[in-house]
Amino acid sequence: MGFVSNDNAHLLSKMATNGGHGEISPYFDGWKAYDRNPYHPTENPNGVIQMGLAENELCFDLVQEWVVNNPEASICTAEGANEFKEIAIFQDYHGLPAFREGVAKFMGKVRGDRVRFDPDRIVMSGGATGAHEMLAFCLADPGDAFLVPTPYYPGFDRDLSWRTGVQIVPIICESSNNFKITEEALESAFQRAKESNIRVKGLLITNPSNPLGTVLDRDTLRTLVAFINQKNIHLICDEIYAATVFDQPGFISIAEIIEEKDQQNCNRDLIHIVYSLSKDMGFPGFRVGIVYSYNDAVTNCARKMSSFGLVSTQTQHLIGSLLLDDVFVGKFLAESAERLAKRHETFTKGLAQVGIGSLKSNAGLFIWMDLRRLLKEPTVDAEMVLWKIIIHEVKLNISPGSSFHCSEPGWFRVCFANMDDAMLNIALRRIWSFVLQRSKGVEEPAKRKCWQSNLQLSLSFRRREDIVMAPHMMSPHSPISSPLVRAT
Ligand SMILES: Cc1ncc(COP(=O)(O)O)c(C=O)c1O
Repeated sequence: MGFVSNDNAHLLSKMATNGGHGEISPYFDGWKAYDRNPYHPTENPNGVIQMGLAENELCFDLVQEWVVNNPEASICTAEGANEFKEIAIFQDYHGLPAFREGVAKFMGKVRGDRVRFDPDRIVMSGGATGAHEMLAFCLADPGDAFLVPTPYYPGFDRDLSWRTGVQIVPIICESSNNFKITEEALESAFQRAKESNIRVKGLLITNPSNPLGTVLDRDTLRTLVAFINQKNIHLICDEIYAATVFDQPGFISIAEIIEEKDQQNCNRDLIHIVYSLSKDMGFPGFRVGIVYSYNDAVTNCARKMSSFGLVSTQTQHLIGSLLLDDVFVGKFLAESAERLAKRHETFTKGLAQVGIGSLKSNAGLFIWMDLRRLLKEPTVDAEMVLWKIIIHEVKLNISPGSSFHCSEPGWFRVCFANMDDAMLNIALRRIWSFVLQRSKGVEEPAKRKCWQSNLQLSLSFRRREDIVMAPHMMSPHSPISSPLVRAT
């Protein structure tokens, strides 16, 4: 959607017209392909299935039940209306005490209550998106850089760089050691920046990782802490997938590492956590983002900056009540992990049936699928060719590894928690059908047209799709999916 034509670009600022949002990328093109032709079980059964969206929709029944049983938490109910005025006029950028308390408690619970978070350090932002930008504004000047291990979430290019002028210097991680962040890779990225006269101000990690779905082990976390202390740069830990860990090894927060006995020399002023309820609770629409910094000056500055992206008080009110309900939170976290584990198993086993592997993972809302053997050659161009077939012919929006700055072509992120079981089955059948056809060598455009109509295999799959898709299992589509506002 090009609102800014070249003709009137001169009327706008450089920032408005510099393309820093990153919208022109395969990652967002996939979303547009989905927007143009979204799958619907009855109205558009041959449409594109959205598997490029890291949303967690598996536990909304539990949340809805809580909302019905706690009408006073919503100020637009008879039971909650008494609070309406107080909530509507509250605009303190410290946030409602119950909200800060609820979030701090929840963050502790998600980390097995092994660490405590101070409600007075909770700073609000518009999602983790706003939190990252806020930290970039607080910690770096235009031209400065953050090191970020690859593959990384494509939204970082927008969040860290677009409006701040901060650069990202990739730390190249590779599949040969399961994309581990090594000391050598850290040092090499740091030196590369130095040679280009770029001042490195920090290191940003995502733990659990998007797109890998893996957690960082204790040794790696200690290595990272040692590295940033030695270089005297900041460490930002994006932990927004903390509660999506569904199997061993468990999640270890940076908050736990810095409390270890032998970390007494760690400069806590360098440590900052980014959190959000977009993934763990599945509430990206509420835009609840958090900066939790151990640095007082950063906390104070970020709080002032939060005026630009406060969480609505109505949302704070609801979230405060929800997260302070220990019984609900305990049940939700346990159930969510269980459902994610089941989904992950169904999906990875389904892929394995046609010989498709993925990086071994135990967290996240996606898998990192390995299609290297389906590439004509190991290049980004070949990855794009395959991706275009998958999106336009197989009709699945998955995200190519190159959009995550992956150094090796052939990896794809595939989300599995933003749909119901029936839709997941259909996606799996499409993948099976595609792989079986490829292995038979049926791949030329004329034959690919048969994909949706003539082939025996496709037809039988489609019939089975019809059977599994009973009306009560239909999944309504999200009414909006503009790539301009969503990057998950
Ligand atoms: C690693 C990571 N950080 C931040 C975000 C942005 O999250 P939010 O919706 O809270 O802005 C995402 C969204 O996908 C993400 O994957």
